[in-house]
Amino acid sequence: MTRRKLIAGNWKMNGLKADGIALATAVAEKYKALEDKKFDMFIAPPFTILDAVADAAKNSGVWVGAQDCSQFEKGAHTGDVSPLMLKDLGCGGVIVGHSERRADHFETNELVNAKATAALAADLGVIICVGETLAEREAGKTLDVVGAQVRGSVPLNATAGKVVIAYEPVWAIGTGKIPTTAEVEEVHAFIRSELAKLLGQDIADKMQILYGGSVKPSNAAELLSLSDVDGALVGGASLKADDFWAIAETVK
Ligand code: PGA
Repeated sequence: MTRRKLIAGNWKMNGLKADGIALATAVAEKYKALEDKKFDMFIAPPFTILDAVADAAKNSGVWVGAQDCSQFEKGAHTGDVSPLMLKDLGCGGVIVGHSERRADHFETNELVNAKATAALAADLGVIICVGETLAEREAGKTLDVVGAQVRGSVPLNATAGKVVIAYEPVWAIGTGKIPTTAEVEEVHAFIRSELAKLLGQDIADKMQILYGGSVKPSNAAELLSLSDVDGALVGGASLKADDFWAIAETVK
């Protein structure tokens, strides 16, 4: 089964308007000029510059989206942003369940599932993040934790065209540490087997599973060559157009 690779950039809480437009423009120009587009590209700037970044990337083929959304369509939810609002801005997708949201905002699998469901209802693509903490890995609980996150966070109407899973070990995010290739392969294959139980083998075979956590130009080729690794969710290195592009260019 060959699955198309997805290179996704999570800018987190970084980027004022001018920097964001410059970064998005640089990435969009490179992608647009690429004759053989062997990978899809997604960037997720902060809400405040989504409109400007979506505009900068317009007609380039780069997919722009948000880092979170509300589980509600509209109404009395101060400070929240609904999937319909994202769609209205020209977003193609949204990341949900990032470990920083799970940790900082106490997001549970149930809430992540509700957010993903709302995003799908608004016709957005969804990247659902899962991953264990260092304490969980050291206690030998990685597969238990990731399995529970997949079963709890992925809506049962998820399809391969609309939903992507990102495996991001919490201890690898922003630390420069990455799991061994065998560890990455083990977890990705396990996630696919959980998806097969949840959604059926056909959808599971087609669904992209990204690796995230300290992906850099120097380690991307190896990570992206692993079976069941269908792309990367990149944080820090997505803030520099050249680094982000160098990661994407390792896609074979
Ligand atoms: P990092 O972040 O690439 O800076 O480790 C990845 C992520 O949190 O998505």
